[in-house]
Amino acid sequence: MTAGSSAGRHLVLVGLMGAGKTTVGLRCAELLGRPFLDTDELVVATAGVPFDDIWAAEGEPGFRARERVAVADAAASPTPLVISCGGGTVLDADNRRALREHGVVVLLTASSAALAARLAHDNSRPLLIGDDKTATLERLSALRQPAYEAAAHIDIDTEGRSVDEVAADVVEEYRAWNG
Ligand code: S3P
Repeated sequence: MTAGSSAGRHLVLVGLMGAGKTTVGLRCAELLGRPFLDTDELVVATAGVPFDDIWAAEGEPGFRARERVAVADAAASPTPLVISCGGGTVLDADNRRALREHGVVVLLTASSAALAARLAHDNSRPLLIGDDKTATLERLSALRQPAYEAAAHIDIDTEGRSVDEVAADVVEEYRAWNG
């Protein structure tokens, strides 16, 4: 692997809930012909119980501890992957370090209103329970922006764009990346 090139590195997608990390990530994995891994799914598969049960029994701290293990395992994969990270993954400095060291980290962005619209009929996320998803996402965005910026090598705006358009852009930027 050439230092500072994307060759051999994971393609890592980060950003707020609703940013499209999973849908775009799956498309990128197809385009690159490589395996896709979602950190939330890895947490659930490793625990052997549903996400909601983990969150109910162990709270957010228990989930975050499991997420750290999932990120370390994913980052250490010798096979280059497309990794979609749960929205809070890169709040943890060790996670940021591991993902940046072994991957090219792409931040997917959109306005809080657009994110909320995408998640309007989805009540699966415990941090988004409540009436005003836009306000919650706005608050999380402000709190998390420094961590997202610290994690990301590349930012890509997804607002008003199709999954295919965004995925093509992500793959192009990833291939061209030369940090
Ligand atoms: C979270 C995002 C979720 C999931 C959990 C916490 C967050 O993943 O990890 O509900 O803190 O933003 P997605 O970003 O894939 O929805």
